[in-house]
Amino acid sequence: EKSGYDHYMLKEIHEQPSALRQCLRGRIDDLEGTVTLEDLDGLAHDGPVQFVACGTSYHAALVGAERLRRTGIPAQVFLASEYATDRVPVGADTLVVGVTQSGETADTLRALREAARAGATTLAVTNTVGSSAARECDHALYIRAGPEIGVAATKTFASQQLALDLLAAALGDGSDRAALKALRDIPGQVQTILETSDARAVAEAFVDADGYFFIGRGYHYPVALEGALKMKEITYRHAEGFAAGELKHGPLALVTENTPVFAVVTGDDEAARKTIGNVKEVEARDAPVVAITDGESDVTRYADHVLEIPAIDELSASVLANVQLQLVAYWVANQLGRSIDKPRNLAKSVTVE
Ligand code: F6R
Repeated sequence: EKSGYDHYMLKEIHEQPSALRQCLRGRIDDLEGTVTLEDLDGLAHDGPVQFVACGTSYHAALVGAERLRRTGIPAQVFLASEYATDRVPVGADTLVVGVTQSGETADTLRALREAARAGATTLAVTNTVGSSAARECDHALYIRAGPEIGVAATKTFASQQLALDLLAAALGDGSDRAALKALRDIPGQVQTILETSDARAVAEAFVDADGYFFIGRGYHYPVALEGALKMKEITYRHAEGFAAGELKHGPLALVTENTPVFAVVTGDDEAARKTIGNVKEVEARDAPVVAITDGESDVTRYADHVLEIPAIDELSASVLANVQLQLVAYWVANQLGRSIDKPRNLAKSVTVE
């Protein structure tokens, strides 16, 4: 069943290229430069968008919201468990998108129901046909990742991000052929990473660390959060993800020579240069630096280890960088002999609020 892999998690990490191809299948029209999402028939939306989600799906929603904002659609993200408490204003012109792999997460279902009661249109972005979220929402967008057995979400995170890229393209105005082509390239780029990654060696170098920090800006901030969540879940070690600029506002006090800092830096723009500035700050505290990078900037000069991702369009950066971090978490947990597919205290789907 595990097709020769020691764990479902590793198998599912390696299934990402095919899962991502399934997500794209039949949805992009190259000639027209358009995206058609069969499950979204009749959804024409030009009002604000609110995302509700938990855990890894929340991180995918952060990426998705940024995509929508770049196409001119106002989009916000809420932790599903905080949505009702926050008294978020929602009305008939709002599209509320629940991102939920299982489609059964109680907090997310609750938030979607509140939104529906307030008159919003609801959309489930889910992996599970026939799930509560898919049945209860006005629309469903299936991510088509196939069954995920490992408790830690891996391939479904990648597929959620790609599905939300497609949603942004479908809802946004104007088609951008280059952007759609970039989406098509993602599965092959993930394959390249899987074949060439040095994540195992990096994991082995830092298996005895006191803690792990992950930093990124913009699209890379959710990647940092997800890198830390995966590390916590399956290694039981302390890990935190930060917006790179926040490091100096407190967390820097935790940084030592025994806390590797994983910095996600792609391109060579202002955001990259600022994150490199943050990398220098941790380097000055003797922390080992692992750069997850396409090599476009000079971050490699300040890094003790480099985890490469192919030269990329920024649309694919979050998916690709995350694959390297999935592998690091997996190999640290593997070295520690953890119960990788069923981490202690965790369940695949959380059906209580
Ligand atoms: C982390 C993980 C959880 C889920 C969260 C939401 O690896 O799997 O954080 O992402 O419980 O689950 P879904 O997406 O089913 O709503």
